[in-house]
Amino acid sequence: MQKNTLWSGGRLSAALNQSMADLNRSLDIDKRMAEQDIRGSQAWAKAIRACDILTEEEWTMIHTGLDRVLQEIREGSFIFQDTDEDIHTAVERRLTEIIGPAGGKLHTGRSRNDQVVTDFRMWMLDTIPELETQLRALQEAFLERARKDIDIYVSGYTHFQQAQPILLSHWWMSHFWALDRDRQRLSETAQHADTLPLGCGALAGTAYPVDRFDLAESLGFSMPSPNSLDAVSDRDFACDFLYWASMLGQHLSRCAEAMILYSTMEFGYITLSDAFSTGSSLMPQKKNPDSLELIRGKAGMQYGHLFSLLSSLKGLPSAYDKDLQEDKQLVFTAADTAALVMTVMKGVLDTLTVNKDRCMAVLNTQALATDLADYLVKKGMPFREAHHAVGKAVKLSETMKCDLKEIPLEKWKEISDLFAEDVYNTFSVENAVDARCAWGGTARFRVMEQMRFAEKVLQNS
Ligand code: ARG
Repeated sequence: MQKNTLWSGGRLSAALNQSMADLNRSLDIDKRMAEQDIRGSQAWAKAIRACDILTEEEWTMIHTGLDRVLQEIREGSFIFQDTDEDIHTAVERRLTEIIGPAGGKLHTGRSRNDQVVTDFRMWMLDTIPELETQLRALQEAFLERARKDIDIYVSGYTHFQQAQPILLSHWWMSHFWALDRDRQRLSETAQHADTLPLGCGALAGTAYPVDRFDLAESLGFSMPSPNSLDAVSDRDFACDFLYWASMLGQHLSRCAEAMILYSTMEFGYITLSDAFSTGSSLMPQKKNPDSLELIRGKAGMQYGHLFSLLSSLKGLPSAYDKDLQEDKQLVFTAADTAALVMTVMKGVLDTLTVNKDRCMAVLNTQALATDLADYLVKKGMPFREAHHAVGKAVKLSETMKCDLKEIPLEKWKEISDLFAEDVYNTFSVENAVDARCAWGGTARFRVMEQMRFAEKVLQNS
């Protein structure tokens, strides 16, 4: 018989099969919520003290006993036992060892069903600010790249074909904004976690007149949950968190994918620092962008966490079911993974070098075709016709096997008599970039303005 679980020795008398004990035990994962469990228990003790369930003396013993448990956990002197099936069991077991039978009064009116999800929400509310700080630091790193690389022109791509030239800074900033949405999503996740389930009991509510509004306030929650059945089964906040981690993963994977390509010999736009690359055990020449590949790969894992939880939740009957125990491992791993990939991505950005000449050399004048069309538009031709005329010029350059800017004037004039000597001024990457002058475009002054705006957004949110 497994002794010392919170439920053994009464209704259940037969020994728990070892495999069942192994399956049931969640301590290795949920001991991470020890601090929250103790804070939650101290607040609960205060709430039931206010209902006269504890005497002043019992309350003091419980409170100081829990302080001691917390200290043991912090110091690492807390000894977990095989029979501690989860952190809630372990804390209550140790409390009772320290203060005696009064410890057994702590759980009055409470269930692990409302306790566990309270701890979990508290853990999330404690962790989100740390992740937010990291996300902000990563945004700063993109911004810093944009500052450094403001003089670098590079091809912009659609369908992964050269499309139009852009400032490299504009590209870096595109990732800044994706991360800014992630930061917003993270703070929304915190809002969704900010409801207190404690005081809902196992499912129907607690039978003691606990002031749940006071309780919520004492634990830093905005309000107590309005329905006890919903409160013990609701894991929406965990799904929101995993969706946040998935979106962050997606954003970083897309950036990583591009950077992997940009670091190849074929592109050569960037060189990663050795500190974020690895070698091959066989090929002596290899320098592999494993940092970015792992960032890309982890995104798939993050999606997996989200799908796992959604799958576990599908069709779950009311209210608490043990399936819910699986939620924490997913969220903890997602949080650790998100933190790690953010750190690595920041490291990659801080240390890479950009090969300016290579970025420029790769730019093909065909990427200026839209500018040629705009040239004709400025001379009065409707855009659709201009598109057609420039298409002809591109085709001609291909038949003549020459660059667009090498087409002689008389040939341009055969295509349209609106072409004049000044057509050759169009072949400037700088002009093409500066022509994208509406708010949000790649014109240098707009990118500078965008960066100032980004700084303000970071300051004000
Ligand atoms: N370890 C459990 C969990 O993580 C605690 C809740 C147990 N509740 C129960 N009715 N057995 O979900």
